[in-house]
Amino acid sequence: MLGAAPGWPVVLVDGPVLLRPYRRSDAAAWSEVRRANQAWLGPWESSPPGPWADLNSPAAYRYVHRDQRRSARRGESMPFAVCLNGQLVGHLNLGNIVRRAFCSAYVGYWVDSRVAGKGVIPTALALAVDHAFGPGGLHRVEVNIRPENKPSRRVVEKLGFREEAYHPRYMHIDGAWRDHIGYALTSEEVATDGGLLARWHRLRAATG
Ligand SMILES: CC(C)(COP(=O)(O)OP(=O)(O)OC[C@H]1O[C@@H](n2cnc3c(N)ncnc32)[C@H](O)[C@@H]1OP(=O)(O)O)[C@@H](O)C(=O)NCCC(=O)NCCS
Repeated sequence: MLGAAPGWPVVLVDGPVLLRPYRRSDAAAWSEVRRANQAWLGPWESSPPGPWADLNSPAAYRYVHRDQRRSARRGESMPFAVCLNGQLVGHLNLGNIVRRAFCSAYVGYWVDSRVAGKGVIPTALALAVDHAFGPGGLHRVEVNIRPENKPSRRVVEKLGFREEAYHPRYMHIDGAWRDHIGYALTSEEVATDGGLLARWHRLRAATG
């Protein structure tokens, strides 16, 4: 049923970083950024077989968008387009949302290599986690990262995610079953800081 998912749809903003639901009109921008980042994203993503250019074409976006909308309507995910100064530059998904006694989600994200290193994804992740723990009604978020992915591990470590697990051969990515490190946060762990965004702002102010 439309509108039945807690906390969805929503737009979240912090300075030049904005998270919003995808639109049908994002096809060209999504395809451009995905196609420009094949080498950057390929080692870290699970993807169906087929040429990258085809899987990430404006026509393919129709199916990606349809699946995202369907899953979000069912309350199973919150798929955000990540924008920087109004441009679509990345993606963040609160996925595998399970409610009842879990109230938990997995997070996945990426950003255009042309704007990497500017804190876009930590900002997006902090916004999304605060939203998940507030209007989203969730209690726990989890991020699973390949040990080799130092930039992504930096993101969660800066934000104070707890390293809590090692998952051997966890996901099929880039042609093989890859180990992952499990990081997580529960709402209690950020409540005393006034939320994750407030924690991130304080950290940025302290480190310049
Ligand atoms: C992981 C990723 C989302 C980080 O996003 P971001 O917005 O660049 O995050 P940050 O600005 O906080 O940078 C994170 C770290 O990347 C490294 N970094 C900085 N500039 C970089 C650049 N131009 N290129 C590569 N890495 C860079 C730094 O180590 C940085 O940490 P630090 O500066 O705090 O020490 C991004 O690197 C990415 O999209 N990678 C490819 C896809 C991916 O790995 N997705 C996650 C799968 S778990």
